Amino acid sequence: MINWKEMKNLHVISKLEQILNKWYGVELLWADSHSKIQSSHLDKGYEFKNHFFKVQMGMSIGHEYIQQDFEKVSAVFSDVSDQTIVFESFFKHIKFVASKVVVDGEFLGTVMAYPFVSDSITDEEKDELIKQMVDCGASESDAKSAFSHLKKMSAVDVEYLEELVELVSEEIIEFHEEISKREERINELNSELGDKYRYHMMIGKSKKMQQIYRLLEKVSSSEASVFIQGENGTGKELVAKAIHYYSPRKDNMFLAVNCSAFNDNLLDSELFGHMKGAFTGAIKDKKGLFESANGGTLFLDEIGDTSLSMQVKLLRVLQEGTFLPVGANSPKRTDVRIIAATNKNIKEMMQKGEFREDLYYRINVINVNLPGLKDRSEDIPILMDHFLKKRCDEMGLPLKTFSKKCMEKMLDYHWPGNVRELENEIERVVVLAGDDKIITPDLLSPRILEAVGSVRGGSSGGMVSGINTNGTLKAALEELESIMIREGLKRCNFNKSKLAKELGVSRASLIMKVDKYGLDKRKKAANE
Ligand SMILES: Nc1ncnc2c1ncn2[C@@H]1O[C@H](COP(=O)(O)OP(=O)(O)O)[C@@H](O)[C@H]1O
Ligand SMILES: [Mg+2]
Repeated sequence: MINWKEMKNLHVISKLEQILNKWYGVELLWADSHSKIQSSHLDKGYEFKNHFFKVQMGMSIGHEYIQQDFEKVSAVFSDVSDQTIVFESFFKHIKFVASKVVVDGEFLGTVMAYPFVSDSITDEEKDELIKQMVDCGASESDAKSAFSHLKKMSAVDVEYLEELVELVSEEIIEFHEEISKREERINELNSELGDKYRYHMMIGKSKKMQQIYRLLEKVSSSEASVFIQGENGTGKELVAKAIHYYSPRKDNMFLAVNCSAFNDNLLDSELFGHMKGAFTGAIKDKKGLFESANGGTLFLDEIGDTSLSMQVKLLRVLQEGTFLPVGANSPKRTDVRIIAATNKNIKEMMQKGEFREDLYYRINVINVNLPGLKDRSEDIPILMDHFLKKRCDEMGLPLKTFSKKCMEKMLDYHWPGNVRELENEIERVVVLAGDDKIITPDLLSPRILEAVGSVRGGSSGGMVSGINTNGTLKAALEELESIMIREGLKRCNFNKSKLAKELGVSRASLIMKVDKYGLDKRKKAANE
């Protein structure tokens, strides 16, 4: 089933609707397979762009006339194979263009551009129409002004109009197919995610991540210390948790401490605890993390940020299982598994004497190296789906989807903040999307929107020069785009389907760009 109500939110459709309003003064309507009008035209307070239609809908049963027209169209479309046809409406000499929406051989509805008249309409025909309108309940002056607002179209105009309306139905078909495919994919993902593409809370289908899952499986059952390296946001803490929750220690505590968040004294007391009176403000004994995590796992995040004296203390716990709380005279014993992480280049730190080698070798029994997201971009779509679903569920919203273009932009971007940045971006666009089901690229943060991926080569092999490269990247790209389309239109003799193929864009998006850059043939001819 097509969700017709959603159509008006589709960027391409609303853009095409604007073009139809602007160029031809017609309204874009659509109805489902039962000829039930699903566009907003029957809504209370709808603002008509076409004056004739407005006058018609002011008549007592004006909406039934358009309803009849849709029924007639459905009947015709069930008999003929044409996709788009020019029809005569209930009102004499009034015409409209309709295009059918058929998916997998099933008739799902109709799109209509209504109303206009032929430029060859005679005065007698005009009078006939006005008389009919008056018979249907319009005042004579309303009927006359309604007629005067109708666009009088030449045969060439009508051909263009047919092309545009057909484009709308094609977009609806494509959208519908995309949604069905996506739903299938999400179902697939949900069932697949069970094992291969996830480990504990971690998600990713890339070879690199799958290798990590296999390593983690082996590591979890052992007691060995683990050292995790990776850029910010690559999931180091997630790895530490996965190791703990699949280990024999899972029923005891997993505690984490960010070593870079404390100065030396505070970290000392945080990790090892202190005795009452050890320093000003120490009004009672305090347990440290090494004591609290007894029997469990302690995650030392950003261990590269610890001082050399702290490193000595850490080495001692690791080697002897003992530590000294601040202000205490005798050491305490603990049994803690250590997992440490850093985003720093630890080898370089050792060479500079900033990190103790003995500590490094003691922790680095098992080494997990997490790749940056840009080195496993296969994981981006699956992560996008995951975070999108999570966020929509949390907010109690129906599941949204990303438009194709949006997906492309996300794939082109290099994600310096890795999975964390991706997660934040998705939270952001879900909020910005509001009630819209489709997340379009305009919602993306500018840095992502402006990401440039691999450039598609033009088939003409032409060079484009003379672009102003001093302004913003966006302006330069738009200039390039406009030049490529202008040149391309000439080369393809204004055959937009052909050019769209050459440029690797949809016909709809090419037509929108032609409009955006004012490259329309007829308007140009008028200006030259
Ligand atoms: N592979 C992954 N699958 C799902 N979520 C992930 C993955 N990697 C990271 N995240 C999420 O990204 C955020 C950052 O992860 P985190 O483990 O804190 O990264 P790091 O400690 O490396 O900076 C967290 O919200 C985490 O849940
Ligand atoms: Mg972290």
